[in-house]
Amino acid sequence: MIPLTSQHLGANSAARPDWEDKYKKLEPLGVGGFAEVFKVRDLRTNEILALKVPNLADEEERRRFAREISTLQKLPHRNVIEIREAGYDWYAMPLAEGSLSSLAPELCDEERIEIITQAAQGLAAVHAVGLVHRDVTPSNILCVGGQWVVSDFGLVRKPEGLSSMPKTRGPLGTPGYRAPEVLVHGGHDVKHYADIYGLGQTIVFITTGRHPLTGGRPMVPGIWEELVVRMTAMAIAERFQSMDEVVAALSEVRTSLKARRRAEWPPRHLESENVTEALRQAELKVLAMIVQETSDGFREHEIRNSMPRRERGLFNIGFIGLKRRGFVENVYGDDDRHLGHRLTESAHDWLLSNAELLLGAMSSPKSDDDPPPPGDDDNIPF
Ligand SMILES: Nc1ncnc2c1ncn2[C@@H]1O[C@H](COP(=O)(O)OP(=O)(O)O)[C@@H](O)[C@H]1O
Ligand SMILES: [Mg+2]
Repeated sequence: MIPLTSQHLGANSAARPDWEDKYKKLEPLGVGGFAEVFKVRDLRTNEILALKVPNLADEEERRRFAREISTLQKLPHRNVIEIREAGYDWYAMPLAEGSLSSLAPELCDEERIEIITQAAQGLAAVHAVGLVHRDVTPSNILCVGGQWVVSDFGLVRKPEGLSSMPKTRGPLGTPGYRAPEVLVHGGHDVKHYADIYGLGQTIVFITTGRHPLTGGRPMVPGIWEELVVRMTAMAIAERFQSMDEVVAALSEVRTSLKARRRAEWPPRHLESENVTEALRQAELKVLAMIVQETSDGFREHEIRNSMPRRERGLFNIGFIGLKRRGFVENVYGDDDRHLGHRLTESAHDWLLSNAELLLGAMSSPKSDDDPPPPGDDDNIPF
């Protein structure tokens, strides 16, 4: 172990930190309980990164920071913060867009499920190497390039061993997110169940915007309730037993959310009624056009080609509707050649008694001053 000097402890703060040869300090990003994080520019590559510098108060905290670095170095995982470069008392990492505590107000349920699933997968990787994070909170879950990662491994350690309650600073972890067994036993023998608890309380925060309370039934929206109850149970035996179980339960929440979204969607018969109405309008418009164009036979493609491109799709829809309705019939020459179309007897009968409807369809011609609607005619499959 490297002997600790007053310089390492930061007592001699006048000494120039060695990372300053490689990085230019930009604005501060956050100050946690143990460290300062700021934006930096890598002088070698010009890349913008985040740099974490702890304020080490004693030998124990130095060991803690060394453990944070070595844990991150041996844990490459898409849902764990990537360590880019590390020195004795600093490390560089990708710059995050924000944390779950700053971005929470912008999220919908689908995103919440996805984020918690990603965090749970990152934590599962931590647990898989026999470690416990012990400080799972919204501000320690960061968004980096659209992916969500677990960060701040300042309290990470193996579950067994002597008490690792920091001697110099209050109780371990963050109030509200600290599992009950941590309060009872201190840091000693805290297992991965504590991270399941912290992640459950994180869900309470991101679904309610309120700081989570310890104990009592969590007041979360219905879709989350069963999950959160099982993540934050006071008794470890009643909690999920692994992060894999949490991930499986999250996928059930996703399934019931999808079912709820479908149930909220307008019923199918309304949907088809609207379609019928839209078709009816298209038919009326085409009928009005034909009547304006000619009193006799007509060639459908001539009318269509005289129209702006964006209206041709609607013309086709209306024309097909009129044919089905028996309002339009084919006209053939003596040699059985197809000459064009004309309105049928029943169309003329209908026109006599529904002139008003037809006038309605004619009365909204596009004024030349009107700007054309956004052209999506290319999306109409005709
Ligand atoms: N990579 C990063 N990009 C942007 N901001 C960060 C990054 N890492 C940390 N921060 C900000 O700095 C704060 C403190 O960092 P953290 O590692 O949690 O230190 P502490 O151990 O002091 O809590 C975080 O809550 C976050 O707001
Ligand atoms: Mg933190």
